[in-house]
Amino acid sequence: TLGLSTVGLAVSESLLSGCMDMSEMNAVAPDIMQGAFTTPLPTPEMAVSGTSLNAHGMSGSVMPGKSGSMLGYRNGILGPTIRAERGSVVTMPFTNGLTGETNIHWHGLLVPPAMDGHPEQMVKAGQSFNYTFRIDQPAGMAWYHPHPHMETGRQVFMGLAGMFIVESPEERALKLPSGEYEIPMVIQDKRVDASGGLVYNPTMGEVMIGYMGDTITVNGAHAPYRSVSSRTYRLRVLNGSNARIYNLALSSGDPFTVIGSDGGLLPSPEPVTNLLLAPGERADLLLDFGKMNLNGEVFLQSNPFSGADSQGRQGFKIMKFVVDKTESDSFALPLTLTNIPALSAASAAKTRTFDIGISMEGSGKHKMGKKKSMAGMHTINGKTFSMDRIDEAVPLNNVEIWEFNNANGDEPHPMHMHGTFFQIVSRAGGRNKIVAHEKGWKDTVLVMPGESVRVITKFERAGKFVFHCHNLEHEDDGMMLNFQVS
Ligand code: C2O
Ligand code: CU
Ligand code: CU
Repeated sequence: TLGLSTVGLAVSESLLSGCMDMSEMNAVAPDIMQGAFTTPLPTPEMAVSGTSLNAHGMSGSVMPGKSGSMLGYRNGILGPTIRAERGSVVTMPFTNGLTGETNIHWHGLLVPPAMDGHPEQMVKAGQSFNYTFRIDQPAGMAWYHPHPHMETGRQVFMGLAGMFIVESPEERALKLPSGEYEIPMVIQDKRVDASGGLVYNPTMGEVMIGYMGDTITVNGAHAPYRSVSSRTYRLRVLNGSNARIYNLALSSGDPFTVIGSDGGLLPSPEPVTNLLLAPGERADLLLDFGKMNLNGEVFLQSNPFSGADSQGRQGFKIMKFVVDKTESDSFALPLTLTNIPALSAASAAKTRTFDIGISMEGSGKHKMGKKKSMAGMHTINGKTFSMDRIDEAVPLNNVEIWEFNNANGDEPHPMHMHGTFFQIVSRAGGRNKIVAHEKGWKDTVLVMPGESVRVITKFERAGKFVFHCHNLEHEDDGMMLNFQVS
């Protein structure tokens, strides 16, 4: 196995050896377990406002026929896919059935700050809380997960996450594939023990790159298949992994169409042959199984992408589509999907720059004896998260450019803002462009090593929110700050 040096981090050995023996430093992503693709793709239960969620330990497995320990919100790993109409009021009664604190963050829903699941808004073990908010945003695909500081990675990995779909008359008018032709897909990499239960036990090295699993799952099942007809399907894909980035592609090399991302539909469809999706990001895709040059089946896979494979960038299969029914559809892809008024960079009242990544500053105060964390190696502008400190004070309704600068870094950081959607203004270095699924409203943007990404947003909601890296080990390590809009 390769050591920490393979991820190219500027971390001195003497600093690290102060905490443990170097075998603990293994920071290479594990080899992917090849799957059988014989398990039918599970569809998460559908739910609407009023459905109670209960974070609790349960037995189950991502492997067929096994049963180990994991966490869930109802029956089984992952929570239900919640659907709600734009303009409606949603109430989700929540009970914490865990032994420690947890809460729910509605990632990609513009909820009031008191409902946002800020890490200071914890629900204690055995307690309940009613999350209630009005859906006031375009149709799209959000998700929900816990947000307890330093425990988010563990709780999400163990099974607490779910999808939240917002619908609207505007989107229905497009007559996109729906019902059995619309497939919600939560992609996550897991590690399982002998009983099939989930294992979250990152070494310090894995805290550095993020905790990656060897068992790729979709909707909580390893290596599933879905039987489809020779027609167009809508795939709503969430990367719900802690740290793994997927370079989504079809094994046939066929193109597919991106129609939406984090904050809803793109202005127009974008044909692609691959798409880099980071933790926290969503991609709304159309696949026409009738147009592909297939032999009855095609895999959704992750293609290798540039950089060292120590960060899990080797290729592997995710799931199989078996095209076993002939069916034609009259679906015609609209040329215009929605209207997104561009926020012009010239209208920005302020630009804030954030240096993101590893910082050795202040390392003297890190508690290096603490096994599960590098305790603040990952920083934003040299700072780690402090619950009560306001790091950025933003005037209400300000239009601002936020620049996430990873020009000198060597790890990818998917940067996520709560409480607002943003547009991407530019990407300098690295890929040097705005990619297909970034042409609409976003709440999470992948900043690869060598890149600096500028986003623009209008802060229309008052309150205290966090922004952070959505590599959950980086977030738990403190790569998160508060901003206050007032
Ligand atoms: Cu999905 Cu603050 O996170
Ligand atoms: Cu969020
Ligand atoms: Cu990060």
